[in-house]
Amino acid sequence: MIKIAPSILSADLARLGEEVEEIRAAGANYVHFDVMDGAFVPNISMGIPVLKSLRKATDMFLDAHLMVDRPGRYVEQFCKAGADLVNVHVEADSPENIAAALEKIRDCGKKTGVTLKPGTPAEAILPFLDQVDLVLVMTVEPGFGGQRFMADMLPKIRTIRDWIRVRGLCCELEVDGGVDAETAPLCVRAGANVLVAGSAVFGKKDRAAAVRMLREAEI
Ligand code: DX5
Ligand code: ZN
Repeated sequence: MIKIAPSILSADLARLGEEVEEIRAAGANYVHFDVMDGAFVPNISMGIPVLKSLRKATDMFLDAHLMVDRPGRYVEQFCKAGADLVNVHVEADSPENIAAALEKIRDCGKKTGVTLKPGTPAEAILPFLDQVDLVLVMTVEPGFGGQRFMADMLPKIRTIRDWIRVRGLCCELEVDGGVDAETAPLCVRAGANVLVAGSAVFGKKDRAAAVRMLREAEI
């Protein structure tokens, strides 16, 4: 079954608890929590205190996407604040330091994810693939919601799905950026099983209908 992970970057953050309750009632699986540091990406979003408050407001699975330079400095704090999975970008530090960051997340008893920017080849995840719980393929340049889906990322999704299958791994494959009712089926056909969607869910009045439309990508 595919999983729907609405990104709260597009939510009304003054009503975050209610927004998350709406997507929970709509049958969403994960809450995608975008963290931007103004250095790794040209934007600043939210961080540890917000995640901590959100943890108290919901029991939904919190998927933290760290668009942060040298994320190893912060992963333990995100785990302690209540993230269920912490995603780090392979471009954000040396492979050794990324491996160390993943180790810290695992030591906290949380799930690990590695993320690839559009310009980064699929091969960059190979050193980590056997150990992570999730690979995230960005289908827009990270930094902003509401951008156009990059269809040229579909071969990368296919390649990584093949590696996961051939190696018999149970790693999830998530896509993020420009995913909507039209592009979701392309992602699922290429092998993605977790769909992040910001504007396609929180940009719609009827969140239940929006989640349902994305879920139809499976059929
Ligand atoms: C972009 C973020 C995304 C963003 C997706 O850097 O990582 O999670 O919220 O937004 P949409 O679905 O609107 O492209
Ligand atoms: Zn994201």
